[in-house]
Amino acid sequence: MSQGLLMAAYLVATIMFIQGLAGLSKPETAKGGNLYGIVGMVIAVIATLIHAQLEGFTLITLTMMLGTGIGLYLAMKVEMTEMPQMVAVLNGLGGLAAVFIGFSSAITEENALATKLSEFVPAVDQTIHSVEVVLGVIIGAVTFSGSAVAAGKLHALIPSQALSMKGRHWANLALLVLAVLPGVVYVQQHSLFALVLVTLFALGFGTFLVLGIGGADMPVVVSMLNAYSGLAAAATGFTLDNNLLIITGAMVGSSGAILSYLMCKAMNRSFVSVILGGFGNEGSTHSGADVEGEYTESSGEAVAQLLKQASSVIITPGYGMAVAQAQHAVHSLMTELSQRKIKVRFGIHPVAGRLPGHMNVLLAEAKVPYDIVEEMEDINDDFSDTDAVLVIGANDTVNPAAAEDPSSPISGMPVLKVWNAKNVIVFKRSMATGYAGVQNPLFFKENTSMLFGDARDSVESIVKQL
Ligand code: TAP
Repeated sequence: MSQGLLMAAYLVATIMFIQGLAGLSKPETAKGGNLYGIVGMVIAVIATLIHAQLEGFTLITLTMMLGTGIGLYLAMKVEMTEMPQMVAVLNGLGGLAAVFIGFSSAITEENALATKLSEFVPAVDQTIHSVEVVLGVIIGAVTFSGSAVAAGKLHALIPSQALSMKGRHWANLALLVLAVLPGVVYVQQHSLFALVLVTLFALGFGTFLVLGIGGADMPVVVSMLNAYSGLAAAATGFTLDNNLLIITGAMVGSSGAILSYLMCKAMNRSFVSVILGGFGNEGSTHSGADVEGEYTESSGEAVAQLLKQASSVIITPGYGMAVAQAQHAVHSLMTELSQRKIKVRFGIHPVAGRLPGHMNVLLAEAKVPYDIVEEMEDINDDFSDTDAVLVIGANDTVNPAAAEDPSSPISGMPVLKVWNAKNVIVFKRSMATGYAGVQNPLFFKENTSMLFGDARDSVESIVKQL
């Protein structure tokens, strides 16, 4: 394939990726956006393979088929609630690929030096290339180990609470400096051993960066690692001199950074602090798991009676609705209440569930009309005029400690102010804490009743009573 044709194919792929990103900005167009991305990637891969006229074409095709098979199997098997882990793993693999490409390039460079081939390459170009290799390896290794820890935390293999260690930031800074120093040696001497040291210290830096971040901040971490994986891909694009990889990496990096910024704003966190891993449990003086008090237990029948007398109801779903797959039952409840002329709306927290837009996707799947699904900032002032709030499987996102207790680990995180309503019913199975491991004082408030059980069973039983 000629260079001109390759550039034309890359241009088409780039346009597809831009269309894909635009499509992903709304739930209605997200499927189409994914399709654009897939077509763009297929064009990019085929054009690259044909242009390169690679010697090991058969081996590469077989490896790609194996990778595609594993990817397809995992993507089809993954539960919706496990998507953040899957995204973290995919980000991590992008980082690992950047590390491998960096080493492959370094070995090629070493061979070129040994055979004196590099004498034909200007010294400044060699230095720039080596810097690109070091950058790709550092960002890739940080992305890989950070993503592995994030996936472990999300999969509950590692405790979700932030690792509290005195001088954590200094230790992180030291690891980063220790990763950069051998990088300088590599640029000067092309020593593979120096590059190995770069990798090891960068892996350590990524691990401790994410270990120090608390559970409630994981959504920001995942999108931040997504941005890092884009930067790693862009650095790899420079190493391989591949324009499409630079463009794609830059798009992933910038869109990931924008998403992280928006999430930081929604979570009331400092963007700079997030990028440096300097947030999480900081400022908290207790774990938040030890709040105690008396709580009132309710029954499906009592909740049905309460709802019959209400004129306005707000439903605030959370991760538990996804676990219980209660969205269709919630839709039936909404229909039942609407038929009784009760005003029903949904209040959605930006990080409810385990992935951005998780609740919106579930409610859309159950055909809940978009116009009664409201964002947190649009509905937060309306709770005081609401007769009943149904907290279905939500916990951290409705925790008053975030707003009222400066010593809480989730202090400062904006939450749905459900406690201002006349009555609050919490649907969950036990008194267990939410994802951040922080107990919820909402459960012990006078106007709150606990309805224990699987959210789907509880909602279905209320619909029957109505
Ligand atoms: P969580 O704080 O995770 O609480 C969910 C609650 O659902 C739990 O307390 C659990 O209590 C209950 N539950 C679980 N299964 C249930 C079932 N079958 N029936 C009824 N209840 C059930 O939920 P949230 O309010 O949605 O907050 C989300 C949290 O996840 C935040 O801390 C957020 O930062 C974090 N996070 C979010 C994302 C994104 S992007 N959204 C990504 C990663 C992490 P029981 O066990 O007692 O039933």
